Amino acid sequence: MSKKYKEFLENFTEELVILSPGRINLIGEHTDYNNGFVLPTAIDKRIIFSFEKNGTDSQCSLYSVTYDTMLHLDLKKIKPSNIEWENYILGVLHELLEITDTVKGFNCIIKSELPIGAGISSSAALECGLAYGLNKLFDLKLQKITLIELSQRAEHNYVGTKCGIMDQFASVMSERHKVILLDCMNTTYKLIDADFDPYTILLLNTNVSHNLASSDYNTRREECEAVVNIISSKYKNIKSLRDVTKSILTEFKQELSSKLYQRASYVIEENERVLLASEVLERGDLQKFGELMYQSHRGLQHQYQVSCKELDFLVDFSENYNQIIGSRMMGGGFGGCTINLIHKDTIDDYLIKIKKAYKDRFTIELTSLIAVPSQGTSIQE
Ligand code: GLA
Repeated sequence: MSKKYKEFLENFTEELVILSPGRINLIGEHTDYNNGFVLPTAIDKRIIFSFEKNGTDSQCSLYSVTYDTMLHLDLKKIKPSNIEWENYILGVLHELLEITDTVKGFNCIIKSELPIGAGISSSAALECGLAYGLNKLFDLKLQKITLIELSQRAEHNYVGTKCGIMDQFASVMSERHKVILLDCMNTTYKLIDADFDPYTILLLNTNVSHNLASSDYNTRREECEAVVNIISSKYKNIKSLRDVTKSILTEFKQELSSKLYQRASYVIEENERVLLASEVLERGDLQKFGELMYQSHRGLQHQYQVSCKELDFLVDFSENYNQIIGSRMMGGGFGGCTINLIHKDTIDDYLIKIKKAYKDRFTIELTSLIAVPSQGTSIQE
């Protein structure tokens, strides 16, 4: 660490500490921006923000412990940067300043426990933690949903990923030992007990994240919109794939390319799976829940085509191991993690086997993380 950074840290007077978690998603992938259903929750790994006001009108300094680097900025001159992580910060500040002029100069130290590019949404944690912290530090009185939506806009406008609302919503709104059944059409939600015992949620990180993730992600979104455009020329009230039933889609089968037909079929089926998964979870039918996770993966692999060979390898491997009842890729795809429901007594044994098999196949180290459904963004007491 450079001498300059040391001085910054030594002179820092912590006024507020915010804990901003990553998220998992049990099922419901690529449904959020189609106004569909998702079943995410926050986890026990997070980004920790320390804040102090610095008494200036508009000068801010943010130190990232992860990157051992500092971002200096002037609130009056916010513009996008060439450095990716800075755009999450700048994007949130830009969106905040659009709705309030109460934010003044502040300093911040950011420390992360979240692996980057793993599909557990370190980006939403970064955006929402900053927005939440500044809301408290300057007493902006913004509601949680406003913080969530402005964080999502920051990602659209400054980072360039046209993401849905799931990650930001889960990061902020989750509660301990619960999962959120979220209807992304209107952000109404229901909390369901995350009672998976004797199974544990194990994340396996491929440690690959393909560069095209953001552009391919946006392409999927455009493909879904293209389907809606075609269908809404006849059915005027159809605004998103959420409004499209299987029978309406079949009616347009000839007009749609096979690719677009597959994309839309996946989304419609995934929405049905989320609702069914929530029901069976409430009933405690974990075997059925796990089957739906596998089906979700196969849809993402073959119909929606956002998986990759490393993720498929992990899911295929788990299918021969009956102590794992469900496995699927999680998040945007093209790399990142699989989420697995594994019997708690067999985790160590399984990790030895899968790590070896993965390394033999790809010469990449597989890393793992146990995820515990946890509280959303909060102030450290
Ligand atoms: C990313 C996006 C989310 C969601 C998932 C896929 O995590 O940020 O909005 O679309 O991909 O389900």
